[in-house]
Amino acid sequence: MKITFYGHNTLLIKIKEVNVLIDPFISGNPLSKDKVDLSTIKADYILLTHAHQDHVLDAEAIAKANDAVIISNYEIAMYYQKKGIEVHPMNHGGNWDFKFGRVKYVNAVHTSSFEDGTYGGQPGGFVIEGEHKTIYIAGDTALTMDMKLIPLGAKLDLAILPIGDNFTMGIDDAIIASDFIACDKILGVHYDTFGYIEIDHDEAKRKFFERDKDLMLLEIGESIEL
Ligand code: NI
Ligand code: MN
Repeated sequence: MKITFYGHNTLLIKIKEVNVLIDPFISGNPLSKDKVDLSTIKADYILLTHAHQDHVLDAEAIAKANDAVIISNYEIAMYYQKKGIEVHPMNHGGNWDFKFGRVKYVNAVHTSSFEDGTYGGQPGGFVIEGEHKTIYIAGDTALTMDMKLIPLGAKLDLAILPIGDNFTMGIDDAIIASDFIACDKILGVHYDTFGYIEIDHDEAKRKFFERDKDLMLLEIGESIEL
């Protein structure tokens, strides 16, 4: 499993040669729009955690350019199906075996509406199991007791958590989340993109390190292998 960070909550996960894109927000991201060429992004599937603009902005264009399947909650899936895109609707607690691996749509505490006001269902995150590795993508969420359910069904190799505060968990709550999900290897996302969510990188890494945890912060375009 190879994970490439394209800024904010946008990640390209390559599993079994299948390209799984998460929350594409590139053309509107001041930090990534000049560094990432949208036309070079390859996606077989696009997973959307919730309907907010900073998670779905480029989903339609990339889906249409790649004939990709959008996987999200029922309301978001129907929104894109009406635009002629192939979709796979899920809802909270449900699992499905895709050709790249098993996906579970899990709870998040946040909101979810499209830019035009269309209802975007309830927000979520994903647990993805593929190539003998399991990762958790929290999406935008507060720290929530529901996170304690995740290790009951999955032994995580990596968790991708928002750390930017204001709209989601900040650093201190993400450290508690790491305990709740029983995973000490964290990839931080959803920080620095806007003024509200700027963080001190050194302080964030130090706080995790002091709790015997590893916080990774990737450069835009940087990849890790699991
Ligand atoms: Ni959001
Ligand atoms: Mn967001």
